[in-house]
Amino acid sequence: MEIIIKNSISEIGETIAKEIAHHINLNPKTILGLATGSSPVEVYQALIKLNKANVVSFKDVKSFNLDEYLGEVDFDKTYRFFMNEELFKHIDINLSNTHFPSIHLLDKYDEAIEEAGGIDIQLLGIGQNGHIAFNEPGTAFYSKTHVVTLAEKTRQDNSRFFESLDKVPTHAVTMGLSTIMKAKEIIMIVYGDNKVETLKTLMSTKEDEHFPASILVSHPNVKIFTTLDLYNRAIR
Ligand code: GLP
Repeated sequence: MEIIIKNSISEIGETIAKEIAHHINLNPKTILGLATGSSPVEVYQALIKLNKANVVSFKDVKSFNLDEYLGEVDFDKTYRFFMNEELFKHIDINLSNTHFPSIHLLDKYDEAIEEAGGIDIQLLGIGQNGHIAFNEPGTAFYSKTHVVTLAEKTRQDNSRFFESLDKVPTHAVTMGLSTIMKAKEIIMIVYGDNKVETLKTLMSTKEDEHFPASILVSHPNVKIFTTLDLYNRAIR
């Protein structure tokens, strides 16, 4: 795992967006694995700018998002809505090429990714408890796309996007850890004041199912972006 330290989240966003655009320019049919949460928002803003400046086109790109809530969720709280608002509606991607896991598409989601040729670049955030996508601590490393019960900590962390904690869904569908590990390249962003301990654990971890992101240790091509401030606090 290569750790890349930048001064700010906007610098992280611009660097990753340039790397993604470069990849798409070499291979216009790039398959992207996309993430929600606050950490990737600056990447999406930078990609929108590059698309509007005609530096990159998404017209032949396909995307597979990591996860989606389950149950009765208002559309404006879904990850589909988040992605439409933060990225898709501002770029020239074909919405029918953008995919989300669902209860009706569990094994089929992994198959669809493989049929598309596999994920070239997987963008990831990380939960405070080390979760990636919605793979909570204790998830088997061999897991494929599956239904999860969200950890209370995750529901509390994500309650900032809802009116109250009781409105946060209790279940979700997520790509599994083995699905994520099949990506050819993984780019993770560790960002936020609440991630000091998370980054510390990540930098010293061995593979351990209690800390899902530790699975990345055995992936051959992982870049972890973080800010200087967070890094300094984590190594203290
Ligand atoms: C959610 C998402 C994860 C994301 C995490 C961290 O739980 N399912 O994919 O990594 O939030 O979000 P943030 O970047 O807002 O800290």
